[in-house]
Amino acid sequence: MGKLKAVKGDIAKLGVEAIVNAANASLLGGGGVDGAIHRAAGPELLAECETLGGCQTGLAKITRGYRLPAKFVIHTVGPIWRGGNSGEAELLALCYRSSLELVVAHGLKTVAFPSISTGVYGYPIREAADIAVATVKAFIQSHRAVEEIVFCCFSEGDYQIFVGFLSSKGFASD
Ligand code: AR6
Repeated sequence: MGKLKAVKGDIAKLGVEAIVNAANASLLGGGGVDGAIHRAAGPELLAECETLGGCQTGLAKITRGYRLPAKFVIHTVGPIWRGGNSGEAELLALCYRSSLELVVAHGLKTVAFPSISTGVYGYPIREAADIAVATVKAFIQSHRAVEEIVFCCFSEGDYQIFVGFLSSKGFASD
């Protein structure tokens, strides 16, 4: 089975084949991780995003990575937290699965995720990290070609939470 691990830092600097962007439905950029990825990738990324016609919550679209170390960016749209009874958990899990389907479809072996929806969109970090780790673990058990999946955390607190869920699900941290 592929390896899952957590790291701390800026996802736009990671040398994996694809990084995932926590975008909004317009796919035309924003703040947070979306802003960081667009700044690092350069204006060509926005130009390609403008051709995509947006993206629904839970789904994902792929572009090239341009000036990023990563060859591809997978743009997914997480749910906005509305208290937990509006299908948020299912939509968040769908973001991870939709992104990983694109990883497999493009024959990629390494991908990094940010903590989708847990910034501006307000999803509580513990609930979101549990869903992220469980969903990715279930996916890679049936998709053996994916070799490494990285959870790129932006704060020490988020990193510790991801490490905790990873170790409780049988993944050692390095
Ligand atoms: N690398 C890794 N993680 C980061 C980085 C980075 N460079 N920058 C921030 N984070 P957010 P959302 C973390 O708000 O909640 C945008 O404006 C951040 O600390 O980026 O899905 C979009 O355009 C948090 O843990 O995404 C949408 O409008 C996580 O990334 C909206 O925000 C996600 O926070 C999406 O909101």
